[in-house]
This record gives sequence, C-alpha cells and structure tokens, in this order.
Amino acid sequence: MARILVTGGAGYVGGVCASRLIAQGHQVVVVDDLSTGNAAAVPLGITLHIVDIGDRFAIRQIFASGKFDAIFHFAAKALIPESVTNPGYFFESNVASSILLLEEARVAGIKKFVFSSSAAVYGNPMSAPIGEDEPTSPVNSYGETKLMLERVLKWYANAYDWSVTAFRYFNACGGTPLIGEDHRPETHIIPLLLQVAADEREYFEIFGRDYPTADGTCLRDYVHVLDIADAHILALQAMDRPGMFIYNIGTGKSLSVQEICHVVEGIVGKKLRTKDSARRPGDPAILQASPDLIMSHLGWIPRHSDIEYIVRSAWEWKRKNPDGYGRESAIPSSRL
Ligand code: UFG
Repeated sequence: MARILVTGGAGYVGGVCASRLIAQGHQVVVVDDLSTGNAAAVPLGITLHIVDIGDRFAIRQIFASGKFDAIFHFAAKALIPESVTNPGYFFESNVASSILLLEEARVAGIKKFVFSSSAAVYGNPMSAPIGEDEPTSPVNSYGETKLMLERVLKWYANAYDWSVTAFRYFNACGGTPLIGEDHRPETHIIPLLLQVAADEREYFEIFGRDYPTADGTCLRDYVHVLDIADAHILALQAMDRPGMFIYNIGTGKSLSVQEICHVVEGIVGKKLRTKDSARRPGDPAILQASPDLIMSHLGWIPRHSDIEYIVRSAWEWKRKNPDGYGRESAIPSSRL
C-alpha cells in the first residue's frame, strides 16, 4: 500500500483516479483549491486539503504530516480559450505554482511523480496517429504550460533520481457512478450534446465542416476516464527506476464530431438539433494517438473506451446529477 498525494483530486480525472487508488487499497490525500473542482468528486474517507498548490507553506505542512510515496499531479487550469486570452494566469498556475510543489516534494524526499500532460503539446500535428517522439508545437498557452512542466520534470528526474511519468491525455470522457464531466463554462463535445438531449441547450454547434476528413468534421481520439485511471495505477506499479517516461493515453482510433453526434442520438434515443458553425480557432483537424508505447511498456489496454459505453456512462451520470455538482452544494456538509 502506498500513500499518495493527489493534486486536483476534486476534478474530473483526478477524482476518478483518487477513487481507483482507494479501491486498490492505497491511502490518498487530496489537495485542491476548488477553483474548478468540486468537493463532491472527492470520495468520502479521503482527506481533502482546500489549498492552492502554489501555497508552499501549506504544502510543506501537508508533507510534514507523514511520508508520501508518490505525487499524482492533476491540478491545472485547463480551459483552452481562456489560456489564449489570459496566458499569464496559466503560466503562473500550471508552471510557477507547480514548480513550487516540485521544490517542496524535493525537500520532503518524494521521488515518484505522475504528471497529467496533454495531447495539446502536439499542437497541429502533421500526422496521425501521433507517437510520443513527434514534434511538439503547442498552439495555445495551455499546451505550452504542459510541455514546459514536462521539460522541468525531465531535469528533476535527471538531477534528483526521480521516477517521473507524464501522460499525454487525448480526449478524456465518460462517467462513473459518482463522477462525471461538469465544466463551467462547458466546452466539451459529449457533455454539450447531453445538455441538448436534456433540453438544457437549444442546439449543438458543429465547429467546421470543411476539414480534410471523410465527413468534413474534426477527428478525435476519445478515451474513457476509467482507462486513464488504469494507466495511473499501472504507472505506480512500474515506478521502481529513475528516469522520465512520457506516454500518450489514447485508443489509437478516432471519431468525427458528426459520428459522436450520431452515437449520442442513439444512446439518448432522439434526434438532436445541431447547427453548422465556423471552425473554432486552434482546433486541429485530426488528433489521434499511437498508444503503442503505453501498451508495450505498461501493459495498458483501454477496456472502457468503446464509444457507446463512454456515452452511456456519461448519460447515466448526467441523469443522476441533472445539475452536475451544483454550486451551492460544492462542499458537502460531511466535509465542513
Ligand atoms: N466541438 C464542436 N462543438 C462544440 C464543442 C466541440 O464541434 O460545441 C468539436 C471540436 O471542434 C473538436 C471536438 O468537438 O473537434 C472535441 O472538442 P472538445 O472541446 O470536447 O475537446 P478538444 O479536442 O478541443 O480538447 C481536448 C481536451 C483538451 C486537450 C485536447 C487535446 O479537452 O484538454 O483535447 O488533446 F488539450
């Protein structure tokens, strides 16, 4: 059993990973400032510190509370349009504050680190599927911050014998009985389509029909959040040697925006209103992972990423939580 600090554990991916770690018998402590996360996503029984990762004195106190075997670092600002208009906020939070966390971890003698990176580091890739050694060229400051922290971590691995795993997520999606996607504002395709299905939104805008793809809409590699959590569990088991390891997390298959619309219509059992709109700035035509490395090194297999299952699990969570996490109830009374 390991004791693990999970930053951003009140977020969508962090919350699911924290739950899976607990289910595996590990001890988990969550740090989250709840700026975008929800306390309701943190499984009961887990200690939640409502702290900004850049608050190094608070982080120092948490590290002093007992030895941690590893850090899973999910906390980040992740709204891509905002990263274009307000890059300073992203560099401060995703890079500067993260480096303070690394420094406190170094002082505390923690040497195992798993980092949530993103396919956004590739920018507009020239090829598909993309391997980890393809050129990185982010087209927004969000991707740039993820790439910068990967580079910082490489030097920590090199100088301090850390074992670092950075996962470049493709399109995380799907739900679990307790956790689902609830971003505010919502910008992601599946939750937006489900809002239309639930009559909360009049129509879904298809951003661009003139891409060089079979139906003219963008292709993405959709991976269930439970498969992302599995990758983290496998990484923890493999962290017995120092070094920096970078893996894509994607299925190696891609679906178009139009195809996703049809799958959602099939699951919710009705036709959804869509409207053709202009391309969204910064959207690459195709983002599709090569998952060969994670499969061969970590033995990862995407078991939950069938698109029908992804959409059904997201729809089930939404039907159980029509108002998402709400906002008034963001901190459950059990945590006050
Ligand atoms: N889309 C629409 N209409 C919408 C919203 C999305 O047509 O209203 C399209 C987008 O153009 C894109 C696809 O649906 O082609 C998926 O869009 P999302 O916003 O759901 O996801 P992105 O591919 O833009 O971004 C995701 C993650 C990012 C990550 C990126 C790269 O959300 O964090 O993948 O891996 F950086």
